[in-house]
Amino acid sequence: MNNIVPHTYQVTKKDRNVKNGHSSFLLWFTGLSGSGKSTIANAVESELLKRNISTYTLDGDNIRKGINKDLSFSPDDRTENIRRIAEVSNLFIDAGIVVLAAFVSPYTKDRARIKEIVGRNNFIEVYVNTSLEECEQRDVKGLYKKARQGEIKNMTGIDAPYEAPTNPDIEVKTEELDVDAAVKKIMNLIEKIIKNE
Ligand code: ADX
Repeated sequence: MNNIVPHTYQVTKKDRNVKNGHSSFLLWFTGLSGSGKSTIANAVESELLKRNISTYTLDGDNIRKGINKDLSFSPDDRTENIRRIAEVSNLFIDAGIVVLAAFVSPYTKDRARIKEIVGRNNFIEVYVNTSLEECEQRDVKGLYKKARQGEIKNMTGIDAPYEAPTNPDIEVKTEELDVDAAVKKIMNLIEKIIKNE
């Protein structure tokens, strides 16, 4: 590692932000499996697209099936999962893209590290707060049922912890707010940040 000398690039993040006409940052959605993270992230992305903002969504489908397909749901692997996603997000931010990332990310220390990797000013934490009871009732993927029957180990909320954010930038209680209202709440907060090239 000692012999790696960073190259000074001529085109900077600032140049890319000016070209795009908007800033770039990471909108991080955390919450239980089935809480609605991806649904809300996708709806926010559609809204951003309408405003001609360059975006990209990172979620289990493109990460755990690709770059992170070697990782399980053990505590150490979850930590590594989140670290790599934070590093990938950092590259996208540098590329001038607004990143939406939807991951359970159950550990407070891992979420704190995302902030360190991308920088506090580039990180917006959205806590998608849906109770375990509700997630389990929805059970869109049938995983809670399997976990209760012991077919899946380390299921967040069942036999693995979820450490809820104590001070998120935005909290969305999906049992009180529908998707449209959640999108509005998030857009209200990020509108000013987006314009700040
Ligand atoms: S994280 O904990 O490392 O952040 P991540 O968001 O990548 O998790 O993946 C969570 C998704 O994987 C869940 O939405 C669910 O569909 C699936 N999954 C499979 N096994 C588990 C498990 N043991 N705990 C949580 N989610 C699981």
